[in-house]
Amino acid sequence: MGRMKGSYAQSGKLVQPVKSFSREVKKMAQEFDDSFKEVEQSVMEDMERVYSEKTIDHFLNPRNLGEISAPDGFGRVTGPCGDTMEIYLRVNSDKIVNTTFWTDGCGTSIASGSMVTEMAKGRNVSEAQRISQHDVLAALGGLPEESEHCALLAANTLKEAIRDYLGIKREPWKRAYRRY
Ligand code: FES
Repeated sequence: MGRMKGSYAQSGKLVQPVKSFSREVKKMAQEFDDSFKEVEQSVMEDMERVYSEKTIDHFLNPRNLGEISAPDGFGRVTGPCGDTMEIYLRVNSDKIVNTTFWTDGCGTSIASGSMVTEMAKGRNVSEAQRISQHDVLAALGGLPEESEHCALLAANTLKEAIRDYLGIKREPWKRAYRRY
């Protein structure tokens, strides 16, 4: 039986179709790859027409994404658009030594959360509390008018997290009643 298979393969009757099938598959994969690159390129061009380089970078490579367990400060805010952002703080002697964010919002809310956490890191809480929507917008190089509220969501969530930190600093027993 083994000999029969071998001779069938050796005869070229099997080898030929397998070779041309694999050539076909490679060609299709290449075509798919090319058209995917074209789509990717055109999406990038569309984004660059609307958003600054900084915004695109923070949207595609968000900094500080995630959670901090048992944070020293936590804020969760839902904006009028229905999207929510969370900010987590690690604070040492009133200095924000680490901060992370999470959002279920749009691309510009991701960019805003990424930027506001970058801006807050290393600052004293009272300085970070003053980071405004305008500051986030300026750091991102501006956002289209209809997306400016995403920067407000980020600034407000940071303020909420700092408020939480200060509240617990005043009344540490409240930490036990947190629901996260
Ligand atoms: S549209 Fe809701 S946060 Fe951007």
